[in-house]
Amino acid sequence: MDEDVTQASRDGVEGRYDAPAHGDTVAPTRAGPRLMTDLVDVQGVTKSFGMAATAVRALDDVSVSIGTNEFFTLLGPSGCGKTTLLRLLAGLDHPGTGAIRLEGRDVASDPPNKRPVNIVFQSYALFPHMSVAQNVAFGLERQGLRGAMVAARVTAMLQLVRLEGLAARHPGQLSGGQQQRVALARALAPQPKLLLLDEPLSALDRALRRDMQVELKRLQRETGITFLLVTHDQEEALSMSDRIAVMDGGKILQVGTPGVIFERPTSRFVAAFMGSNVLPGSLVGHPASYVAMRPERVVVATAATADAIAGRVTEITYLGARTACGIALDAGPMIKVERADLPAGLVAGQAVFCRFPPEALVGLETP
Ligand SMILES: Nc1ncnc2c1ncn2[C@@H]1O[C@H](COP(=O)(O)OP(=O)(O)O)[C@@H](O)[C@H]1O
Ligand SMILES: [Mg+2]
Repeated sequence: MDEDVTQASRDGVEGRYDAPAHGDTVAPTRAGPRLMTDLVDVQGVTKSFGMAATAVRALDDVSVSIGTNEFFTLLGPSGCGKTTLLRLLAGLDHPGTGAIRLEGRDVASDPPNKRPVNIVFQSYALFPHMSVAQNVAFGLERQGLRGAMVAARVTAMLQLVRLEGLAARHPGQLSGGQQQRVALARALAPQPKLLLLDEPLSALDRALRRDMQVELKRLQRETGITFLLVTHDQEEALSMSDRIAVMDGGKILQVGTPGVIFERPTSRFVAAFMGSNVLPGSLVGHPASYVAMRPERVVVATAATADAIAGRVTEITYLGARTACGIALDAGPMIKVERADLPAGLVAGQAVFCRFPPEALVGLETP
């Protein structure tokens, strides 16, 4: 397909999101006009499982491009098609329709081991009877490397993931976090151009997951390898990614930087999935019939003002750094508010007045 068409359609989708009204609250972006150095180009990919009447459409006309050296995340609820898309990129499965290009070349007929791609699974999938060093060496030997070359690369990889000193251990003698590091070292050792990570942190406990998020980001920066992470965890996606694609029902609904996905959702699904309030309503100059409003941006007062909307507190939950508050607006809808500066002494049942700063209201396309 013509490169210009690809570029134009991508700009058509993303261009609108790149200039949020509130630059100060949006993370630095890399999503500006993108260069033609895409590593991955997925065009119109559809994938169904099963027979006609009962077929499940796991991917429905998915198009996305991922740049060289990008940390890109597929974010969406369970069953939305994330793993299916990774498997197609790895060559473990084939698309029904559409094209997948790596470095501009159609890889339809390339088997997994001929693609410059490696994959890390949630389950680590280490070889239990091999030492850490042998696990990391595995892919190198399959590439035809031998002896000192392999040893040097294994040492470098174990340094990279900070496991020097554990080379002789077996996976059974390692913690979950250490096993995950071995899996990363093994996948990075053959120097793939694209590393696919399928919920790689979901088996780790919360504190360890935080550490590994920082670690993964560092590994991506230091190696310069394109990372494609799959997760259902919003916070994980926001904290690590250069760009995020939010998926639902086999479709990509929105692609953007974390700041844009969080603050400028374009659909009710993305807004709600990222934790915004979604309210029926319209905005001047926008064809929206729903608007999104971040819980952090609602201003709550105990006295009425001209532009405030009356409501009643339904619940109040102290969260430490901030307090969460449920409010039933007199007009009907329920909203969530999360702030550090709520009026003192709010209690359930109390009448309050909410203000939605106009610049914080985001018009949504339906649905
Ligand atoms: N091999 C398969 N056979 C039948 N259905 C499948 C298969 N793989 C995935 N699916 C279905 O495709 C949809 C997407 O699955 P998947 O890509 O695994 O989602 P995710 O990784 O986002 O949780 C789900 O409805 C799932 O049940
Ligand atoms: Mg999955």
